[in-house]
Amino acid sequence: MPQTNPFHSLVPRKLSDSELARSIRLNIEAELDAINLYAAHLEATDNEEAKAILRHVMDEEREHAALFWQLIARLDPDQAKHDREAPKKYQLIVTGASHEAVEAAGEGGGEGGVEPELPRQLTVGGFRR
Ligand SMILES: [Fe+2]
Repeated sequence: MPQTNPFHSLVPRKLSDSELARSIRLNIEAELDAINLYAAHLEATDNEEAKAILRHVMDEEREHAALFWQLIARLDPDQAKHDREAPKKYQLIVTGASHEAVEAAGEGGGEGGVEPELPRQLTVGGFRR
């Protein structure tokens, strides 16, 4: 009877954090690929029991991807910096800010630590003042 070699996955040394970050990025890729695979299977069947299981497992993969992303932020300080800056840059991009304003929105708000000004938008809350 064939059996799995118990030494199959052994490595000769421990990974550095940089090497571990590379490995975790591959894990994220695998989680995202699994989400797409399960989504395709969900769309390809009318079997409600199978769909329920696929939805559950697909959501687990989303959670795994999110947890791995948190781990990457701890292993890769450069990635963590982009993660902190992304919400502000995203908001600037979708509200029509200039490329320069988006690029200046890094930590400290760009040169001299000046925070970029968000484009003005009319909002319901804006009329309350
Ligand atoms: Fe997973």
